[in-house]
Amino acid sequence: MTISFKDKVAIVTGAGGGLGKAYALELARRGAKVVVNDLGGARDGTGTSDAAAMVVEEIKAAGGEAMANGGSVTEYDQMVEMVAKTKEAWGGVHVLINNAGILRDKSFAKMDMPDFNLVLQVHIMGSANCTKAVWDLMREQAYGRILMTTSSTGLYGNFGQANYGAAKLGLAGLTKTLHLEGAKYNVRVNSIAPVAGTRMTEDIFPEGLFDQFTPENVVPAALYLVSEDAPTNMIIGAGGGGYHAAYVTMTPGVALRQDERTVEGFAAAWDKIIDRSGETVPQSGGEQSIAVMKALQALG
Ligand code: NAI
Repeated sequence: MTISFKDKVAIVTGAGGGLGKAYALELARRGAKVVVNDLGGARDGTGTSDAAAMVVEEIKAAGGEAMANGGSVTEYDQMVEMVAKTKEAWGGVHVLINNAGILRDKSFAKMDMPDFNLVLQVHIMGSANCTKAVWDLMREQAYGRILMTTSSTGLYGNFGQANYGAAKLGLAGLTKTLHLEGAKYNVRVNSIAPVAGTRMTEDIFPEGLFDQFTPENVVPAALYLVSEDAPTNMIIGAGGGGYHAAYVTMTPGVALRQDERTVEGFAAAWDKIIDRSGETVPQSGGEQSIAVMKALQALG
């Protein structure tokens, strides 16, 4: 079965190059009308260019429909304006891929707080701004597919990326609450953790791997996660032709008796607390609390 985006309107942020461009081209090829957002800056977020307009030209040359938007995801008003213009031109917004991103890598010891802040602004506030700008519209339409871009750094850590890691795990957290709030309105929210050879990773990839990890290898996962039959609340890793899911799990842990609730009692229970057998994946904070309450009730 072909997965089509005909009659769908999609916004892809940071789509002037790299992964976002690959998503935009394939969405358009599959029939979507695509807003190519990108302010066209350098990898560290400085400067501007007409990167978005060039991708739009490429889409149009291939027979697709697209419009460029040069707004910055950090500016909420610009994102509201982008959504309003899209609605005016094409009647709605069905897909949002929050992809725009920058890097300001340094070990935490050497990192300046403005660099920490800017990375949070672009990734966290940028994604929140765009999502907020489409949220009411998607609820009214009773249709929305939103993809956040997390990262292995956010999920597992990476030396020199404290700012980026904090931001990227934050986006997985944003996914988990928005999926709950969107469910009633057929708004599904997922996260992707891509790995791809782009300008962002050109000096990070081991020699020889850059060309194997093309953005095109990430496209199938990203587009499935914003398709009509998309799941919701998933974190999917994609890179180089490998695809997997990442989960936030909870061990069964222990319920300690009143007299055991001391630092020493906790230390004695440590092995059981971290034992992963019987681990579950709570679907909300509430589910986690219920699991704890049940264990306490069983204690009597
Ligand atoms: P890229 O640097 O080619 O693409 C990022 C795009 O975002 C650029 O075109 C840039 O101009 C745009 N952008 C930056 N700030 C913006 C702003 N304020 N407003 C609008 N656009 C802005 O890098 P790549 O690799 O394609 O990254 C895409 C996303 O994937 C990013 O969120 C990145 O953090 C994430 N990612 C990439 C990985 C990789 O292996 N390439 C690994 C994990 C996550």
